[in-house]
Amino acid sequence: MIKIAPSILAADFSQLGDEVKSVKSADYLHFDVMDGVFVPNISFGTPVLESVRRITDMTLDVHLMITSPARYAARFAQSGADIVVFHIEAETPEKSTAAIDELHSLGKKAGMSVKPGTPAEALMPFMGELDIVLVMTVEPGFGGQKFISAMLPKISELRRIIDSCGLCCELEVDGGINPETAKLCVNAGADVLVAGNDIFRAPDRQERIAALRTGN
Ligand code: DX5
Ligand code: ZN
Repeated sequence: MIKIAPSILAADFSQLGDEVKSVKSADYLHFDVMDGVFVPNISFGTPVLESVRRITDMTLDVHLMITSPARYAARFAQSGADIVVFHIEAETPEKSTAAIDELHSLGKKAGMSVKPGTPAEALMPFMGELDIVLVMTVEPGFGGQKFISAMLPKISELRRIIDSCGLCCELEVDGGINPETAKLCVNAGADVLVAGNDIFRAPDRQERIAALRTGN
């Protein structure tokens, strides 16, 4: 089953409660945390996550686009994240493994993400421990960017790795997802689709979520 994760980065923060409720039929709620160092943008942190945690029981999928994410993984888990995804480019292998173990000890799911320039093979050492891998289909840092179709082979390669190794890891894609690119990603093997602008700018958000999920 294809899962849909609206990114609240595209939401109207002056009415965040209503914005969250408007996408409640989605499977995950995607939180783009940006520190202005790992990516050239600053978004929000644990105070916003704690507020949203109080008003919804949706699965909160936190995407850490921050330097040295191992320092904060547990903090986001304790602030309400159900899934914490951090970037392989931002952490040493040792600290990445420690962060995964720490998240699991807190009963949370752990994920790692790769930027467009990072090959799928970089994730191999961690795949057996991960609950989700996130393929960036734009350069991280901003919503509303154009989908990078050159990422499709990377999605297919990770799908082959997951299936051939019998892993239970979800394959999430993020950036420039709309009905057309969603179909390409699902055909390549993705099973979780993050979408910000496409959902929050749609006239009927619930209808758009359903359309992305079914490919219709
Ligand atoms: C970009 C973020 C994405 C982005 C998606 O760094 O990780 O989640 O918000 O926004 P759209 O779907 O508008 O590209
Ligand atoms: Zn994201």
